[in-house]
Amino acid sequence: MEKFNKIKDKVLKLFKKGKDGEGKQVSSNHYLTGKEIRAISKANAKEMRRLEKLKNRKCPESEYITEMKDDNNILEIENLHSYFFTDQGVVKAVNGVQFNIPLNSTVGVVGESGCGKSVTSMSIMRLLQGPSGQIVEGSIRFKANDYKRDEKGNFIPVYERDENGEIVYETVTDKKGNPKLDKDGNPLKRPKQVRDEEGLGKYEMEERVFDIAKMPIREMYRLRGRQMSMVFQEPMTSLNPVFTIGDQLDEVTLLHVPDATRQLAKKRSIDMLNLVGIAMPERVYASYPHELSGGMRQRVMIAMALACEPRLIIADEPTTALDVTIQAQVLELFNEIKHRINGSILLITHDLGVIAEMADYVVVMYAGRIIEQGTASEIFHKPCHPYTQGLQKSKPTMKSSGDTLFNIPGNVPNPVDMPNNCYFRERCSRCIAKCAGDYPEMVQVSPTHYVACHLYAEKDN
Ligand SMILES: Nc1ncnc2c1ncn2[C@@H]1O[C@H](COP(=O)(O)OP(=O)(O)OP(=O)(O)O)[C@@H](O)[C@H]1O
Ligand code: SF4
Ligand SMILES: [Mg+2]
Repeated sequence: MEKFNKIKDKVLKLFKKGKDGEGKQVSSNHYLTGKEIRAISKANAKEMRRLEKLKNRKCPESEYITEMKDDNNILEIENLHSYFFTDQGVVKAVNGVQFNIPLNSTVGVVGESGCGKSVTSMSIMRLLQGPSGQIVEGSIRFKANDYKRDEKGNFIPVYERDENGEIVYETVTDKKGNPKLDKDGNPLKRPKQVRDEEGLGKYEMEERVFDIAKMPIREMYRLRGRQMSMVFQEPMTSLNPVFTIGDQLDEVTLLHVPDATRQLAKKRSIDMLNLVGIAMPERVYASYPHELSGGMRQRVMIAMALACEPRLIIADEPTTALDVTIQAQVLELFNEIKHRINGSILLITHDLGVIAEMADYVVVMYAGRIIEQGTASEIFHKPCHPYTQGLQKSKPTMKSSGDTLFNIPGNVPNPVDMPNNCYFRERCSRCIAKCAGDYPEMVQVSPTHYVACHLYAEKDN
């Protein structure tokens, strides 16, 4: 009984209001009162309604068509803020993230669990779950190779032309191959569309830059799948359990390739399953997700993402569920697709080995912010931020066998209540007096290498 009373007193103490340093009455730091929770929900509801309205608005294209700052990039993320409005407060999951993905390159994102890697990628795809998850501020500029449209919004076919530049006409036939006649009895003619090796008609394309963060959500169908696609972190929850793998794979082609037939979709799906190293693709094509192993499901997800050969592939921990031999094959496949379609990859992973092998550039995130970015060689050979240095040290090596692995002591601060100073301060072993001040600015240490740490700002001064 005495023990119970002690615990009860401890719990009640946490709920009690106390006095701060100036003697003012304040609530306990540990628990929110009912009144506070109601006030937070009310403020959140207002903000979420405003942002949902923006997301679902109808607006002219001019509001979200823009220009790239550097034409060599396929994606430019500028000052991105993505928040979750919860009853405990606003979780600033992505808090001012800024980086570019150059054309034809692989950018790796690393950082510890919960630092905002997935939320960044979900923001790019505009898949944050509303109304609580919202992009609050910032730009995500994406250079798409979009279908050109006429005034009515239809795609414009590419027609065959003769040596004089005149459009070539062909006779229209019925299903049996007999020519169709017009009302005067003459054979019906139409302009001849250029077709690819699969027999699909070609349409005029144009490069356009979309600001994804400002696009109404219904316009995103133009980009997802065909222009950019994502391999999700959890393959089981990303596949629909009531449809076969074939149905789900075919849907990608039928939805995104104009004029695609069911036969063509099936052929492409089986080709893709083959490409990602699935044995007996016909059997897997007819299976349901629960009939496959975790690794097979992950490969199906990869096949689905690659089906339309998008310009940007976002892969969130794509190889975590795979064994090492398949992992190597899949990484090889990503590289092959990247070269074939001149595309780029955003690769999110915990595995520094995968990053070292694949990435041209590396972005290191910590508690919703970028703390260091540079070329893979700079991040691996000359890491500047104490967190990145700790990450490198905690990597197991052959030499470290038998020794205890290095770990970074302490925890990430509470995401609802981030401090104003460096978020890594409580865990940093190289702290200086300045670290108690404002959050450190990004400092450039080489033309491609940036770090947010006061140690380097000091060097500048
Ligand atoms: N639906 C949600 N509601 C509230 N907070 C969320 C939600 N989803 C994510 N968060 C918060 O956003 C932050 C970033 O999460 P995110 O999933 O991006 O982490 P991550 O870096 O991908 O981690 P991991 O490596 O474990 O996948 C975390 O603090 C998480 O708690
Ligand atoms: S700013 Fe200070 S506390 Fe933060 S990582 Fe750099 S040295 Fe450490
Ligand atoms: Mg994640």
